[in-house]
Amino acid sequence: MLAFNLFLVLTALFGQIFAFAANPTVSKIAIFGGTGQTGRECVFQALKADHKVVVLARNPAKLLIPPGSGGDQAEKPMESKNLFVVQGDVTDAASVDALFAAHPDISGVIVALGGRTKDVGPTMLTVGTTNIVRSMKAKSKAKRIATVTVIGTGDSEKSAPLKFKLLMYTMMRSIYADKNRQEKIFLDPTGDGHELE
Ligand SMILES: NC(=O)c1ccc[n+]([C@@H]2O[C@H](COP(=O)([O-])OP(=O)(O)OC[C@H]3O[C@@H](n4cnc5c(N)ncnc54)[C@H](OP(=O)(O)O)[C@@H]3O)[C@@H](O)[C@H]2O)c1
Repeated sequence: MLAFNLFLVLTALFGQIFAFAANPTVSKIAIFGGTGQTGRECVFQALKADHKVVVLARNPAKLLIPPGSGGDQAEKPMESKNLFVVQGDVTDAASVDALFAAHPDISGVIVALGGRTKDVGPTMLTVGTTNIVRSMKAKSKAKRIATVTVIGTGDSEKSAPLKFKLLMYTMMRSIYADKNRQEKIFLDPTGDGHELE
């Protein structure tokens, strides 16, 4: 149910989602990008639905209750007995391995990584998602992964509105290249994540 709710919410708000996990049995969810706009909402909603959540955060102090759904608790620290935070960088394979090694019972993964290329670098999505997929396969039994992407990537390129296309082919060219490589991890038959659900 959580996965289905997240699918509806994220699809409505943020556009395209691929490889989504609609599994009502998910009970411990790893969320990457959990300190971001999208990720905070995912963490908050998952905890609210009584799921256990594991977050990899470069700076755990940024894990705050989101505005809007967080009501008058917004921007206060996210705290719960069901919340486990691992400090680390997703581009560091050892950090990602440490998270899955500490939580071998993870049953689903959400990737809500993002940021501007000038801040996160031109390959963070590809390198980070590859690390996640490889570690997930090696250290957990989880098969289900949802990755938030954006309209204009993959086969949605042609259907993107004109204003998106202007950004895609200019200022945001580098981030779209990284997003397209990230999608191929799942959609390309030779991709590391192709066999995941
Ligand atoms: N927000 C929207 O309206 C919207 C719309 C369409 C699509 N999307 C897509 O949704 C995704 C997330 O967007 P967002 O707006 O939520 O992004 P965001 O607020 O910038 O959050 C990005 C998240 O990625 C994390 N991150 C970046 N580099 C990392 C690294 N090396 N290691 C670990 N974590 C790292 C950030 O951690 P730090 O807190 O440490 O920086 C943060 O938690 C993106 O792919 C975006 O294109 C968003």
